[in-house]
Amino acid sequence: MIWYPFTLQYEPEIPLKIVRAEKEFLYDEAGNSYVDAVSSWWVSIHGHNHPKIIQAMKDQLDRLDHVLLAGFTHDPAENLASELLKITEGLFHKVLYSDNGSTAVEIMIKLAYQYFQNQGESERNIFLKWNVSYHGDTIGTMSVGGDSVFNRVFAGLFFPTQEFTSPNCSFCPVGKKPDSCKTECADAIETFFKKNPKRVAGIVIEPLILGSGGMIFYKEEVLQRLERISKEYGALLLVDEVFTGFGRTGFFFAYQRAKIKPDLIATAKGLSGGAAPIAATLVSKKIHSIFVIPEPEKAFYHGHTMTGNPIACAAALASTKLMYEENRLDQVALLEVKLKKGLETVRKEFADLIRDVRVLGAVGVLELEVGEQSGYTYPGNKVLKKKFLEKGVVLRPLGNVVYIAPPYGISDDSLEKIFRVIRETLAEIYSGK
Ligand SMILES: Cc1ncc(COP(=O)(O)O)c(C=O)c1O
Repeated sequence: MIWYPFTLQYEPEIPLKIVRAEKEFLYDEAGNSYVDAVSSWWVSIHGHNHPKIIQAMKDQLDRLDHVLLAGFTHDPAENLASELLKITEGLFHKVLYSDNGSTAVEIMIKLAYQYFQNQGESERNIFLKWNVSYHGDTIGTMSVGGDSVFNRVFAGLFFPTQEFTSPNCSFCPVGKKPDSCKTECADAIETFFKKNPKRVAGIVIEPLILGSGGMIFYKEEVLQRLERISKEYGALLLVDEVFTGFGRTGFFFAYQRAKIKPDLIATAKGLSGGAAPIAATLVSKKIHSIFVIPEPEKAFYHGHTMTGNPIACAAALASTKLMYEENRLDQVALLEVKLKKGLETVRKEFADLIRDVRVLGAVGVLELEVGEQSGYTYPGNKVLKKKFLEKGVVLRPLGNVVYIAPPYGISDDSLEKIFRVIRETLAEIYSGK
């Protein structure tokens, strides 16, 4: 009946029916509970069904379900935009709504492209990207994603991009150590700019964490250097905060942690805390000003039917307020310490099996040493997932990369359960215990 996403059709996994959720727990039909250690694809940052978000949505439903956002407006959309501009400390000037991360990134790409087209710089049509990166599943976002099993078959449809080896501070592609490196991983990008000073429209990046590509971390200085290069050559910096936004790295947005000033950012996932599909693209004044021009053919014609849906905006507004009311950033700082401690214990017990342990904010990673089988299609992935679930924890490793990205306020008991289940599962699968 349903074609489930990212699901092999020749041997589809049988989906678990979930009937309710609360805090970090999902409950199935039989009443079994599961700790959602991945915040349901990284969205439920406040835990599931947070009463304040649910109440905000109910209140909004009693007033206004939907109205088109062209020629009309409403309080939730206006208030949310004003909050987002406040959080980003005046760096951005306008908010463009959409309803998922891919569309928010797609809007960044289209704006960046048209920004140069409107100014007659039609040769600026190349986007730079990293070979390990994921920005969504639309044709545009796949174009700026690194080559992978997700997008390879569509390569013939992509627009011009230039791919570079992505940074990786655990396994540096140019053999440096994070403490002494001078961001040599970005040298090739600078060289490209030198040779093609007027060809690049923008650099599209996931800041600090390459999420779907395997939860790979890299240091802030790389972003700072890309900011410098892009400014020097007049290209735009497009920062995809779909995963990292709303506190995941310990700052409201990862670009704030890196102390850079992007031209555009895309946010989704944590924006509504998972209660409603909504995304936002934040646009700097520099970009917006190019569209303030009395020439209709130079307008930005982009919108989705559900753009700025009032219920989704109300959810997002409540989610935004919760970041302060419930001290989410402090929770992330505390969680970072706990994740480090818990994962180091696992490393000690399974030293030969663990290739790397890394933690950044509310993301903890355990990369398994599986030799040549490593990568997204790691065959042991299915068994790992199944065992974790049977033991009451939702963990969905990316290939051989087991990661924890829970709601920020997850209880100590649930965290302990996650670590215990990981240890038990590794022992059963790899030590034959
Ligand atoms: C960094 C990043 N960008 C974009 C997307 C796409 O978001 P969505 O699945 O909401 O379209 C994702 C999804 O995981 C993501 O991690």
